[in-house]
Amino acid sequence: MDVPATVIVGAQWGDEGKGKIVDLLAQDSDLVCRYQGGPNAGHTIVVGDETYKIRQIPSGVIAGKTSVIGAGCVVDPQVFLAEVDELESRGISTADVHVSGEAHLIMPWHVAIDQASERRLGKLQIGTTRRGIGPCYADKAMRLGIRVQDLLDPKILRQKIEVALAEKNVWLERVYGVEPLELEELASRLEECAQRIRPYVADTSLLVDGALRGGREVVLEGGQGTLLDLDHGTYPFVTSSATVAANAATGIGIGPNRIDRVVGVAKAYVTRVGAGPFPTEIQGPAQERVRELGAEYGTVTGRERRCGWLDLVALRYAVRLNGITSLALTKLDVLSAFAELPVCVRYRLRDGSEAEDFPAHQSDFHSAEPVYETVPGWEEPLDGELPEAARGYVEFVERALGVDVALVGTGAERERIVARS
Ligand code: GDP
Ligand code: IMO
Ligand code: MG
Repeated sequence: MDVPATVIVGAQWGDEGKGKIVDLLAQDSDLVCRYQGGPNAGHTIVVGDETYKIRQIPSGVIAGKTSVIGAGCVVDPQVFLAEVDELESRGISTADVHVSGEAHLIMPWHVAIDQASERRLGKLQIGTTRRGIGPCYADKAMRLGIRVQDLLDPKILRQKIEVALAEKNVWLERVYGVEPLELEELASRLEECAQRIRPYVADTSLLVDGALRGGREVVLEGGQGTLLDLDHGTYPFVTSSATVAANAATGIGIGPNRIDRVVGVAKAYVTRVGAGPFPTEIQGPAQERVRELGAEYGTVTGRERRCGWLDLVALRYAVRLNGITSLALTKLDVLSAFAELPVCVRYRLRDGSEAEDFPAHQSDFHSAEPVYETVPGWEEPLDGELPEAARGYVEFVERALGVDVALVGTGAERERIVARS
């Protein structure tokens, strides 16, 4: 039997609670695979008294499932190994973690260039996670990258580092005015990492294909979110990979016809880390209130997340781009504090017209004003069945988008979830 795969995709600007939803679905799955991104991701997973923060390894590792880092990902060897050590020290095995040999390596110069280029941009900076993501994907497209499979041969690795570093040091010194990296020190540090990573390297396309053919349940986990997609997001305030569901097939190395379910994860409000336009960003003290109640601080960087009211125009766009078949609406509990809840149903554009569809032109999006409808709050904690007004909020979203909300998050812990269909 050939069982199709499920994609879990962030439907906003990241941090929607994908980690928690993946952890939940992983309970009934066999494999969990990341298809793009790298340690710019940060997922918090709460199981009982334990809180796990993971960046590089798929969230399914916490549930003890086979975990795959696909070809479309970028891997920082030191972050990967630090995560392996952290998980192992807490009794979570990484023996069933597999890394594609085709994935690209984030090298120390990528991190240095990401940091230096953000500093140089000053006020115009993107607000990246400074983990070397953009420079690494740029080198991949330039065909200058070093890949995970290059770790398998010490001689090849050393040679590639030497060639790359000769050029990167010129950039670091002359363009960015920062210290160059030292070849010997760097090569020996990476060889040490290589020795530990070798057992994890695998032909992950073949592995996932075999699992699908064997009738096993496969979850394909996206990092970041739809509006951070390199092509379709709010460019240039985006990440450097394709976050949308269709890229799950490419990023793993399976055919698109293997995917038949796309679960979009959206917060019941919206957050954004880093710079860029954000029409429903809350003005005034309510923003701070949402941030405190939702503990909206970055998992990776600790930065304050900007908070806004739910934006159905942007969410409708995410449904279209990903082919979302059902939604998980997380953090509804955070809204329990409010008597009334504004929901953005349309944008008012520069020319005075109103649109339900996301503007195709960047300048229209920059100047878009949200048009709100206000729905009643419930003002009581969410435990057990949802109160009527909370159900009303969820149904409002379903009606506006024409998509079922299958799961509602009512707290950070694994069991704080209401299944609706
Ligand atoms: P991800 O990057 O999409 O996996 O999301 P993050 O882990 O970066 O951010 C989501 C945060 O919200 C984490 O701290 C989660 O523990 C927490 N969280 C997830 N679902 C819920 C929920 O339904 N209610 C509350 N209060 N917190 C949640
Ligand atoms: P998860 O998987 C939220 C944002 C950064 C910045 C932009 C580019 O936890 O949802 P990058 O380092 O990728 O070059 O930064 O993208 N960003 C995220 N925001 N959640 C993430 O991941 C993010 N990964 C990147 O803040 O605005
Ligand atoms: Mg996150």
